[in-house]
Amino acid sequence: MFEEAQYFAPVAAQADGSVVVELSASHPGFADPVYRSRRNAIAGLAVNYQPGTPIPIAEYTEQEHGVWATVTRELGIKHAKYATAEYLDGAARLGLPQERIPQLEEVSQLLEPLTGFRYLPAAGLVPLRDFYGVLADGFFHSTQYIRHHSVPFYTPEPDVIHEVIGHANALAHPRYAALYRLAGQAARRVEGEEALEFVSKVFWFTMEFGVMQETGELKAYGAGILSSYGEIEEFRGMDIRPLDLSAMGTTHYDITKYQDVLFRAESVQHLEDVVGDFWDTCDDDSIAKLVAARV
Ligand SMILES: [Fe+2]
Repeated sequence: MFEEAQYFAPVAAQADGSVVVELSASHPGFADPVYRSRRNAIAGLAVNYQPGTPIPIAEYTEQEHGVWATVTRELGIKHAKYATAEYLDGAARLGLPQERIPQLEEVSQLLEPLTGFRYLPAAGLVPLRDFYGVLADGFFHSTQYIRHHSVPFYTPEPDVIHEVIGHANALAHPRYAALYRLAGQAARRVEGEEALEFVSKVFWFTMEFGVMQETGELKAYGAGILSSYGEIEEFRGMDIRPLDLSAMGTTHYDITKYQDVLFRAESVQHLEDVVGDFWDTCDDDSIAKLVAARV
């Protein structure tokens, strides 16, 4: 899931218990009352969700299942070329449905036997400390809605294609899953908001937008790249920098544009040694030193 509030459509609970998702006028589904009604219903599922119970079923149309099938097929072709071996291995083991949108409960049932991770429904933005904190317990907050069918290769907000194709395939590999858990432990350990933001930015530039050297080629493992039909064709041309904690934790990013600064790990082991060890040991003091080292 993306972290910044403005890219999640605001979700408002009404006095009568119903839920309204405020899509902006530029959203592809803004003028589609059927889509908007479904968005409200799907957000309501997450707002009213009781932890420990099965995730309620989200209703999708045949058109929306078709969007999933189209994007799955096209991204699959690109993944074969651009995704890391671990991501491809995770995807093969997870075995997501190709022709229809899986329910989040089904994703959990596929994922849990592999790495222990389960999905939780999110109506929209989840506060950073909650979103990251529960990673330590093997939970991943996910939106359930899908992008508007008129633009299958575009979404202004993180949808179920990003959350599941991008993240679940990565979470299905034990080495990536271990890194997600360490990020969660770091978020629980740090006390200050600045330190928490640093932890989340390192996550952004790794598990969301990370790239890795693999047998002489640059591959992607970040969910944001691997779920984006356009971005996956562009990442090799971006400003690729060495993996550097101070830089990742303090570099500004703009979620509305393709990420033009990316950080390259030389191997999974390198990612684990630098970023995994950071999340495993960081605290407010060590992060303050990393911030100071950057200035
Ligand atoms: Fe994400």
